[in-house]
Amino acid sequence: MALEISPEILQAKQRFGIIGNSQPLLAAVSRAMQVAPIDLSVLINGESGAGKEFFPQIIHNYSPRKHKKYIAVNCGAIPEGTIDSELFGHEKGAFTGAISSRKGYFEEADGGTIFLDEVAELPLTTQARLLRVLESGEFIKVGSSEVQKTNIRVVAATNVNMQKAVAEGRFREDLYYRLSTIYIAVPPLRDRGDDILLLARKFSKDFAERYRMPAVEFDDTAKTAMMTYRWPGNVRQLKNVVEQISLFEAGHKLSAAEMMEYLPDAGHEYAPAVSAERVSYDYEKEREVIFKMLFEMRNEIAKLHEAIGHHGKADSAYDNGFRSIKDLQKSLPQNILSPHVPAGSGYESSHAEEIVHAVEPAEEIAAMSLEDTERETIRRALERNGGRRKQTADELKISERTLYRKIKEYNLE
Ligand SMILES: Nc1ncnc2c1ncn2[C@@H]1O[C@H](COP(=O)(O)OP(=O)(O)OP(=O)(O)O)[C@@H](O)[C@H]1O
Ligand SMILES: [Mg+2]
Repeated sequence: MALEISPEILQAKQRFGIIGNSQPLLAAVSRAMQVAPIDLSVLINGESGAGKEFFPQIIHNYSPRKHKKYIAVNCGAIPEGTIDSELFGHEKGAFTGAISSRKGYFEEADGGTIFLDEVAELPLTTQARLLRVLESGEFIKVGSSEVQKTNIRVVAATNVNMQKAVAEGRFREDLYYRLSTIYIAVPPLRDRGDDILLLARKFSKDFAERYRMPAVEFDDTAKTAMMTYRWPGNVRQLKNVVEQISLFEAGHKLSAAEMMEYLPDAGHEYAPAVSAERVSYDYEKEREVIFKMLFEMRNEIAKLHEAIGHHGKADSAYDNGFRSIKDLQKSLPQNILSPHVPAGSGYESSHAEEIVHAVEPAEEIAAMSLEDTERETIRRALERNGGRRKQTADELKISERTLYRKIKEYNLE
């Protein structure tokens, strides 16, 4: 039976920018709104990139706690050694470097809501502390013996199969039941029918505006390709794909064949491959970093172009041939992004090469390996953001977790 879209659901969708009218999505939104006023823990479950992060916000904002604090914590991004102190606070001298006492999120958000994202990543010792807060509202700061009280509503999210995590001893069963008093399943994108096309159109319009380029369109075969593709990375993947297409194919109407170039494993629709999911997911994120870097390079080149004598307005590079990253790509070594760039851009640039060669830093970047480039992009972003990881991750459009992994991998500590 089709779910009727109530004005309340419509309003919530608008308020949070949620696109889609499919029955399973509306059912999830409706459930979040129904349970919002009831002060119980909620567990949001759904595949990676499915849009879980809207739900704790709906729950908080439609609850009596809405005027109190809402704190979102990414449990997967906090190192195991500091997570207890971040969540529950610490006393002065509790560990080396604890020069003063500090409130944890559970104390900070007293009266409000705490969103524990990637909750399955919590270490077992922290799980025990969390269970105690949920059961009695009690917690103890690290290095203290004094029991404190807090009044918190917990909304947790995970893309992990929790029953499996419990069976494997990675997650406490009692905590799982306690957290999932109310359970909301966010449907995977592949189960949302026409929402896929709605989202693709919306993203293509948004990116066209953001990059000031003509929007891409999709012909009927491309639409069918999108509707039958598995979307292992869900809405996040669709957004990334449309962003890439918006940069490389600005103003074009794509066919299925052209579309396929941007869809990894497009031939294997609906293959139940949990491990493959993770691989392509990370791969997507890494590609994101490279794209971000390319786009930054374009902007730098545009500025340099102005500086070396072509006077004009800020985006004069557009007037001088850089109509899309495709132009820029032509002047880069063949191996950079070549698998994803279809031949024949349709735009000709007489300036691209000349500018890239005239500019030392860009040349330096162009000569780097992809790994070096990624490392350098992350290093610079960290520098720009004064080492603040949340902001850096936001700027690079990767999760904090991926950023942590990359920082470790590239020794950027
Ligand atoms: N229905 C939707 N309408 C518009 N944008 C959406 C929708 N669903 C997801 N998105 C966008 O997709 C991206 C991924 O969503 P989100 O971060 O909530 O995923 P997630 O389920 O938390 O994934 P993960 O498990 O990897 O953390 C975000 O940029 C989000 O804004
Ligand atoms: Mg998330």
